Amino acid sequence: MALRVRKAVLPVAGLGTRFLPATKVIPKEMIPVIDKPVVQYAVEEARAAGIEEFIFVTADGKESIANHFSGHPVLERMLTEKKKNAELQLVREATLPPGAMHLIKQHDPLGLGHAVWCAWELVGDEPFAVILPDDMVLSQTPCLKQLIDAHARVGGHVVAVEDVPRDQTNRYGILDIAGDQGTLTKARGLVEKPAPDKAPSTLAIIGRYVLDPAVFKELDRHTRGAGNEIQLTDALNRTLATVPFHGLRFEGRRYDCGTRVGFIEANVAFGLANPEMKDQLRPIIERLLSL
Ligand code: UTP
Repeated sequence: MALRVRKAVLPVAGLGTRFLPATKVIPKEMIPVIDKPVVQYAVEEARAAGIEEFIFVTADGKESIANHFSGHPVLERMLTEKKKNAELQLVREATLPPGAMHLIKQHDPLGLGHAVWCAWELVGDEPFAVILPDDMVLSQTPCLKQLIDAHARVGGHVVAVEDVPRDQTNRYGILDIAGDQGTLTKARGLVEKPAPDKAPSTLAIIGRYVLDPAVFKELDRHTRGAGNEIQLTDALNRTLATVPFHGLRFEGRRYDCGTRVGFIEANVAFGLANPEMKDQLRPIIERLLSL
């Protein structure tokens, strides 16, 4: 029986260069989709999956992320006095319980693997989740909960995957599978951003992982990979002799907020999924399409 997953690592130390000039001062993760910062969707998904401790791997200039998840006594007092209960609830929902938030600085953005390695002390020797806030998922069951449920059955590393068009394999970590087993597929390895004709499959990893802590020892070697960065996928590969590795085709749809078009798509999709907004939004979109 696999240990329960209680901790999530949220790497938020990247520079967000694809979103300049917006990210010159505002962290990419604080840009809102509709009315909530992107990172809040990730935290809400993790809470709904039973995560109790949130480890933000952060960098200078990203203090607003921790502030967003802290209490705001002045605002809360003002909203209480004015009996603005709905607004007060929104502020409180964005606040993590005391002791649930941990911050660790990455100092240098040396890659996703390095960001995860920074959380080693705080995670310790137990399975943990990694959520990349850029990837937003609309689903019936929170995507991370789907991974944690699968992990309870098979243990080891379980990563969220989706089928991508073959001409896009060079944008993702791609699973090397022995044979396709459907929803939960055992993998024998993964390849970082392979060219379409070299890709061992079209199953791409998205920004949701449940990982065995064995990955930390491999990350500790600080081996540089593609782009001279310390790659999480390389370290995962080196654990596969001893740690089972599965890809889960999750139920739901992923939106890549790390790109400008993906960000617009996420706003439209989350707007259309919002019961208060969808009836107003649909005719607007139709009108814009007919221009
Ligand atoms: P990305 O490469 O998509 O994010 O990393 P980025 O570097 O911020 O964006 P661009 O490419 O410059 O526009 C995926 C995730 O990993 C985090 C990022 O914050 C993002 O959530 N990350 C990446 C780190 O925390 N540290 C790193 O060294 C690299």
